[in-house]
Amino acid sequence: MECGAMSRLIIISNRVQPPTGEGGGGNQGGLAVALSAALRESSGIWFGWSGETTDQFTGHINLQRAFGVTTATIDLEEQDVDEYYNGYANRTLWPLFHYRMDLAEFESGFAEGYERVNQRFAETLEPLIESDDLVWVHDYHMVPLGQYLRDRGITNRIGFFLHIPWPPYRLLLSLPNHRQLVETLFAYDVVGFQTRDSLDSFRDYVRQEMGGSVAEDGRITVGDRSMMAIHCPIGIDTANFLEATQSTAARYAYYRMRQSSSGREMIIGVDRLDYSKGLEERFLGYERLLQQREDLHGEVFLLQIAPPSRGDVQSYQEIRASLDALSGRINGAYADVEWVPIRYVNRGYPRDRLAGIYRAAKVGLVTPLRDGMNLVAKEYVAAQDPEDPGILILSQFAGAAEQLTQALLINPYSPEDIADAIARALEMPLDERKARWRACMDNIEAEDVLWWRKRFTDALEGVGQSVE
Ligand code: ADP
Ligand code: G6P
Repeated sequence: MECGAMSRLIIISNRVQPPTGEGGGGNQGGLAVALSAALRESSGIWFGWSGETTDQFTGHINLQRAFGVTTATIDLEEQDVDEYYNGYANRTLWPLFHYRMDLAEFESGFAEGYERVNQRFAETLEPLIESDDLVWVHDYHMVPLGQYLRDRGITNRIGFFLHIPWPPYRLLLSLPNHRQLVETLFAYDVVGFQTRDSLDSFRDYVRQEMGGSVAEDGRITVGDRSMMAIHCPIGIDTANFLEATQSTAARYAYYRMRQSSSGREMIIGVDRLDYSKGLEERFLGYERLLQQREDLHGEVFLLQIAPPSRGDVQSYQEIRASLDALSGRINGAYADVEWVPIRYVNRGYPRDRLAGIYRAAKVGLVTPLRDGMNLVAKEYVAAQDPEDPGILILSQFAGAAEQLTQALLINPYSPEDIADAIARALEMPLDERKARWRACMDNIEAEDVLWWRKRFTDALEGVGQSVE
């Protein structure tokens, strides 16, 4: 049964960004880009925070319809945003789930705000849900929402998908009330993870901490509660992205990039400015290459596009300051009057322009220290010219590494590994580049965002096979 044909899909996520039409908006983050593609052409609603604040929470819903997607958003109080979004979501769960215990802050006020806002979402959403709707909750901002909907008597099928990694069992133990959080996941019919690795970590927790069991089909049981936990890697909107690559804006951006490169090879990085993306290590790896290979001076440059993100959180202010300093130091040491080794840009670009910029790069550098999936890796590959493709250098710690096994996989903590991989990519013969590109592209075409949506909603409707 194709989702949408029978059931309406209600998608809930903190960030709601409807498609903006031609070219698409810039700097949306992977979740919003993927959900807007998943909802297009299927009737349904995308519910979440408006991004705005209000003096007093009213639960008023702003309904909008744009480019085939209906959004329903609510405003939150400033205190909600501080405690729930900047607090529990981005100062507690995000760092911890990205293996950064050193950055994780545990404050009871954050946890209270998180529960309050999730209750508010449940309260406002409940009247919108009709009996046949499939309800699909997304990401770490919303873990307990399903439980709160159940408490209000919602009996629909409800699924949850986590876009970020699930941490190893022992790491999760450092979260106060970890068990309470995990127990709320049993309110869902299906819980999805990006990778096998995350699914395994979740199963470890359930077995070791909760005495639960995992059946052959993936069903997890703890006491008298059970649910399906699946591995369901998210993809990009491949057909749509390929179209964007052929657009006039993409071709023009490609042409302009080639012109401004003046015959030099371009290495590209595109990331939200986030400490999980390994940007400092990436710059250090590139610096190592410049130290080792004087012959490449004036022959290559790194374009790093990194729009600021979550600027109210201190760790994000710090990473921004240290990247400013590091790029300045490297440019100061190596630049000459005609050549700047790093072009460091802190802004977003429309998707079609971005596609053209990716295509102009001989090397794509995607080196997160930890990442749920990383859609930039897939976009970079999809944007390449099949007759003369660039090479993707990919962190072994990005979820995408489970699928894009023919990228050059590296350890993002090692500047040496990064430097060696860049040198190897720059020198790689055309045949090998084509073969690696084809293997990556086969996966990106087969397992795109529509495949992901179907895999998850099939499981939610109970028609999925075992999806180990
Ligand atoms: P994350 O979700 O952690 O930000 P992903 O790589 O999965 O990381 O997704 C990022 C998404 O945001 C991609 O679709 C990418 O194209 C988009 N994006 C990132 N930086 C920019 C930018 N500077 N301009 C436009 N889009 C961007
Ligand atoms: C990641 C998260 C998303 C989030 C996005 C952008 O992709 O998984 O949930 O929306 O980053 O972050 P922001 O805080 O701006 O929504």
